[in-house]
Amino acid sequence: MRQTLKTLLILIVVFITGCYYDNEEKLYSEVSTNCDLSNVTFVLTVTPILQASCLSCHSNSKAGSSGGGVKLQNYADVQVQAKNGKLMGVVKHASGFQEMPQGGGKLPDCEISKLQKWIDSGTLNN
Ligand code: HEC
Repeated sequence: MRQTLKTLLILIVVFITGCYYDNEEKLYSEVSTNCDLSNVTFVLTVTPILQASCLSCHSNSKAGSSGGGVKLQNYADVQVQAKNGKLMGVVKHASGFQEMPQGGGKLPDCEISKLQKWIDSGTLNN
């Protein structure tokens, strides 16, 4: 009887620590895929993303020759592409849209989420 109780106790301990480690793993994966969507603004968030991945073709000076005439440098021009749905369509590689950045890899999910957040918040010039 004592032996059975002991075995049971060990099983319970193993079970509980097993759960504990599972939770820890889950916590870590949530931290590593963390995407901070607070404080998304046009100047501090959207502009750097476009600068790094889009303006080589869509700056005011390059748009005509390399960007199909689409400008993404000034707020007003970005807002047009955001409101007509093309900005998110192209970065999400949605069907029916050109895939952007053209010739480059898709933007990281976190950057796409930040652009979406800016649009959902009203495409403010902030
Ligand atoms: C290597 C050059 C290049 C880069 C980099 C690039 N684009 Fe483009 N983009 C183009 C060209 C060329 C077109 C016009 C394509 C066409 O009309 O066939 C275009 C078209 C577009 C359009 C209009 C699509 C439509 O259906 O009218 C949008 C919006 C756009 N790009 C956004 C972006 C965004 C956002 C980025 C960065 C994430 C980006 N582009 C990066 C070359 C580029």
